[in-house]
Amino acid sequence: MADLNLQEIRDTLVVVAHEAGRMILSANPTDISQGTKLNSTDIVTETDKAVEDHVSKRLSEAYPSFAFVGEETYKPGVQVTAAPTFIVDPIDGTNNFVHAFPHACISLGFAVDHVPTIGVVYNPYLDQLYSAIRGQGAYLTEGAIWGLEGGQGRRTKLPFSKHPPALAGLDTTLVAIEWGAARDGPNFELKTEVFKRLAASKENGGSIVHGFRSLGSAALNLCAVAAGQLDIYWEGGCWAWDVCAGWAILAEAGGIMAGGNPGVWNPRVDDRKYLAVRGAPSGQKEIVEEFWKVIGDKKLDYDS
Ligand code: IPD
Ligand code: CA
Repeated sequence: MADLNLQEIRDTLVVVAHEAGRMILSANPTDISQGTKLNSTDIVTETDKAVEDHVSKRLSEAYPSFAFVGEETYKPGVQVTAAPTFIVDPIDGTNNFVHAFPHACISLGFAVDHVPTIGVVYNPYLDQLYSAIRGQGAYLTEGAIWGLEGGQGRRTKLPFSKHPPALAGLDTTLVAIEWGAARDGPNFELKTEVFKRLAASKENGGSIVHGFRSLGSAALNLCAVAAGQLDIYWEGGCWAWDVCAGWAILAEAGGIMAGGNPGVWNPRVDDRKYLAVRGAPSGQKEIVEEFWKVIGDKKLDYDS
């Protein structure tokens, strides 16, 4: 790691994210060709492929010795290695993209020794760019492309609150969840059961969380937890490219990433089951354990 220029890599990723953002904004989702993968909810468009093609060319020119894992060129069974690796989702939130719902992003992660080390997540619709380098803090830069602050954008350190409150229990939390692409089988049953238990009143044996939010993009959910706008994000079924960049940002904002199944404190970047918790002066470990109790004895199970 010592000989890697992390600042330069992050700056390159920001330039590439802005290029990708322009490609996403210039595509008209109603005119472009679409296909599906797992089922009708798992959409891939020509823009996803074109953006990944552009990003992989740009990054392999700039850093020819680094590995590259991207959603649209991923071969089943390939695992993230300890080598410096770009882990890229060209459009995270493809469902939002095709519905013109303005919460899709490009998610550019960089892992070293399996550790998410740099993250750049850019939502071009809102000109919001989240970024972090391990050990150097996490930031949101807004409006750089729109020309705010002389083109530098408005930069805010994450989390937004200088004094985030302690985590006091699930009944005080706003929780991100996603349905994901798989809509049947034991994983789907477990997810819906956990959603129900989290929402239900205490009298009904539930946790009565404040509410659920689904931004439709794992990367943007993680950034919202990093910012402190959401307290928790639980998901099973997403992939390393959905979480690598957001994870680096979360960690630098004081958040933690536990496993989506009980007992896993240090999930792999490609574990596919995650529980993210925002930064807080106390209560992180306790809230993870409280959440795991809600999951109970069953386990999410995804191929990786
Ligand atoms: C999806 C989004 C979604 C999550 C799915 C992902 P995609 O990625 O991140 O929030 O629930 O598991 O696959 O398909 O929009 O790149
Ligand atoms: Ca995607």
